[in-house]
Formats: sequence, C-alpha cells, structure tokens
Amino acid sequence: MTATLIDGNALARQIRAQVGHRTAALKARGVQPRLHIILVGEDPASQVYTRHKVNDSTETGLAATLERYPADMAEADLLARIAQLNADPAVHGILVQLPLPGHMDAHQVIRAIDPAKDVDGFHLQSAGALMTGLAGFWPCTPHGCMKMLESIGYELRGRHAVVIGRSNIVGKPMALMLLQKDATVTICHSRTQGLKALTLQADVIVAAVGKRNVLTADMVKPGAVVIDVGMNRDDAGKLCGDVDYEGVKEVAGWITPVPGGVGPMTRAMLLVNTIEAAERASG
Ligand code: GUN
Repeated sequence: MTATLIDGNALARQIRAQVGHRTAALKARGVQPRLHIILVGEDPASQVYTRHKVNDSTETGLAATLERYPADMAEADLLARIAQLNADPAVHGILVQLPLPGHMDAHQVIRAIDPAKDVDGFHLQSAGALMTGLAGFWPCTPHGCMKMLESIGYELRGRHAVVIGRSNIVGKPMALMLLQKDATVTICHSRTQGLKALTLQADVIVAAVGKRNVLTADMVKPGAVVIDVGMNRDDAGKLCGDVDYEGVKEVAGWITPVPGGVGPMTRAMLLVNTIEAAERASG
C-alpha cells in the first residue's frame, strides 16, 4: 500500500467534539440548538438514516426530534407543517428525509423550508449561495469531502480535480466547492467519453456514482487523492464504494475507505450545519 488513508471516523470524531463545544457555549447562553427531522412513509433505509441523525445529534448535545407521518400524507399538510416549523424560533434546523412518496413534489417541499434552517443545503437559495460564493448551508456530503481534503493540508489551487457524478446532492456541489478553492474542475458522468484519459490527468478524484469499480488502479495518476463517496454492496453483500480500493490504494497518494470514510463525515457535517444555524439565529 502506498496511499495514506484518510480516516473519516477519526476526523468526524474531532468535528463532533468541536460541535459539542459550540453547543455547550450556546446552551450557556440559554439557547438549546434543535434539529427537527420529518420522515414521511416507511422506507427502511430512511428509517435507519433518520435514527442515526437523531442519535448523532443527541450525543453531541443538540436536541433532535423525529416526526413521522404515513406515506399517504397530503403534500399540503406537509407544507403546512414546514411553515409552522419555519415560524418556530426553538427549531434551528429542518430536515425532510428523502425520498418522499411518489405523490409529493420533493422540489416544492424543499423550497418550503426557510433557507436559514436548511441544514441539508438542498434549498434553491442554498444552491445559489454556493454557486455565487455567498454564505449559505452546503450539502453535507461534498462539504465532508472538502473537510477531508483540508485535513491532509491539500492545496487545491491550480490542481486538476475530476468529479465523477453530477447529482444535485453530491457531484454538482462538489465541483463548485472545488472551484471555489481555485481547482480546475472536470465533471464526468455516465455519458462522458474517455473517462480514463481524464481521471489519469487528475490530482484529485471524487467518485460519486453509486456503482462499484467505477475507478480502478489503471485510471489513477500515481500520488493522486482519491475520495470515494459510493455506498454499494459487493457480491458477498459487504459494503463497498465506487473505487476498487484494493487496487487503487497501491497507486494513489491518499485514499478514503468505505466504510469509515465519507459516510461518517456526511453525518458530522449535518451537526455542523445545525449548530451553525442555531448560532446564526441567536446572533
Ligand atoms: N436521503 C438520503 N440522504 C439524505 C440526506 O442527506 N438528506 C435528506 N433529507 N434525505 C436523504
């Protein structure tokens, strides 16, 4: 192995400790930071994720409420509930777990959240703020990736970063964050021709496709930083990323593992956004 491991668990632990200190400071001023999570329906993965979000919050001193509704909830009722939470000064962060049931328009629902409480960073205003470099909440996964790059002291200015994946939640915001740090950014996706020729030029590669072995050792320049956002299962049912870890770690300079890489960082960044929202709201 030549690559240095970027340990997401260890970094997330540090970040949670920092959030804990900030939470204690707000509490000392009489403010209890609070995250409110809405889960509509019975999606099994969403139930697990939201439980993690509540546990992470309470372990850090943040108050978290999980409010559950049946899958046949009317969208108008959800919008009305969001309006109430927007108006409630005791709630600092609002998160509507996705996916929503098919009869709901997720864009409309996310747009109903007060951008000042949009701790997912999914609101159009949050996306616009990231695009223009203004203050706003950044989506947790790419923000966690940036923290990982920061943790190794990596200077992005002038470097070539290749992002594989163009989702609104990871690929596109990731590219904007890298651009904000003066990287030269290439976004690749399922229609990209000659992916290997592009990744071979990259100093930093972020794989965020949701498919195993999208990035193999022959596609990586020696010494490159490889960040794996993927969460897949291999044939044995074991959790794996988008990167062929065993092969790529022999070529890369730094690499994030799955599990224990980007996943814990995503969870930690939600706590950061929530404490940030509470701090901004309380001056
Ligand atoms: N579903 C899967 N990941 C997420 C996330 O980060 N936020 C929300 N709201 N829903 C999700």
